[in-house]
Amino acid sequence: MSKTAFFDSLAEQRPDPLLELIAKFAADPRSGKVDLGVGVYRDEMGRTPVMRVVKAAEHYLWETQESKSYIGPEGDPAFLRTLALEVFGEHHGGRLISGIQTPGGTGALRLAAELLARDKRRKIWIGTPTWVNHQAIFAAVGLQMGTYRFFDIGKQIVLVDEMLTSLQNAAPGDAVLLQTSCHNPTGAGLSPQTWQDIAAVIAAKGLLPLFDNAYQGLGRGPIEDAAGMMTIIEAVGEVMVAVSCSKSFSLYRERTGAVYLLGDIQASLDKGIGNLASHARASYSMPPAHGAAIVAAILQDPSRRPAWVDELGEMRIRMAEIRRAAAEAFARFRPELAGIGSQEGMFSVLPISPENVRQLQAERGIYMPDSGRINVAGMRMEDVASVAERVGPYLT
Ligand SMILES: Cc1ncc(COP(=O)(O)O)c(C=O)c1O
Repeated sequence: MSKTAFFDSLAEQRPDPLLELIAKFAADPRSGKVDLGVGVYRDEMGRTPVMRVVKAAEHYLWETQESKSYIGPEGDPAFLRTLALEVFGEHHGGRLISGIQTPGGTGALRLAAELLARDKRRKIWIGTPTWVNHQAIFAAVGLQMGTYRFFDIGKQIVLVDEMLTSLQNAAPGDAVLLQTSCHNPTGAGLSPQTWQDIAAVIAAKGLLPLFDNAYQGLGRGPIEDAAGMMTIIEAVGEVMVAVSCSKSFSLYRERTGAVYLLGDIQASLDKGIGNLASHARASYSMPPAHGAAIVAAILQDPSRRPAWVDELGEMRIRMAEIRRAAAEAFARFRPELAGIGSQEGMFSVLPISPENVRQLQAERGIYMPDSGRINVAGMRMEDVASVAERVGPYLT
């Protein structure tokens, strides 16, 4: 018998640095250690709890669900309809809308990327720094990428002019990746004027926006967080939106998300969804049902929906309070870090070198990825001052 050596011929893959960080943190015996690297919301007790309203919806589903038969590549229509109402409001910026359920926000981005890659002449433009997985997703489908600097970490400011210039230099038909709110990793928000300026360039150049909407409701509020995206939806012809329910419903492991297409011609949207569904069918066939059923059970119910809005508000307020305290504490070392207070969502980026990140970890028990991204929800209020005292001397 001649044995193959296929597995051995494969390239070695580096383990995910964030997962490595989690393992290192867990193995650290020091009692004052703090993990700022986590990618999930943590409450004041350091937990990532199941939302109370999610428990209630699961109880309801347990009592009422009668079948676990297949649901089809497009997913659950009630989930898609009710989620669209939350994300885009009743009039969705005056556009027609169609959606497909996906395995989380990553699945949504991947499906959207597959669609864009149907025409490989187009590039996708990405501001840096950005969520680490973005480039991997677009590279996986063979899309060309153009990058521009989005944020100056030392100065803690958005580089609006660089962004607008890059978009002005993009070719008609190119796609533009934009984060709806709570930018990962910088926490930077854009002013209404900047959103309008972006909309004007996208409309003038005939670019195709793809929104990554993973944190709606965790920044300034559900409607406020979508305002910039809605400006663009109102101003341009076609828009793609990848929605994640992982953070806003704390459904991380349930893999719940959707891609929505917005435009003016129903037949074109149907074609787009048909293409997305055929990709889904050939990769995972159909999305997991449970998380979407939970979301639909919450959003359709007149008592559960307000309970969800309140719980989402609790998370948002906790993060805003931590931000205010962190901004004051970190600004003692670098005045620019006062910006952390006006940033939004879970993440901010510190000006710190990878060498200092590792030294800080070894000497002071504070964990973060080499990029200097911190999750403000990784801190309890009582930790903020001590974390800043320990991190301050290592900033660059
Ligand atoms: C910016 C951004 N987009 C998308 C996602 C994907 O989320 P998920 O696939 O867990 O729904 C994340 C998760 O961390 C994110 O930070």
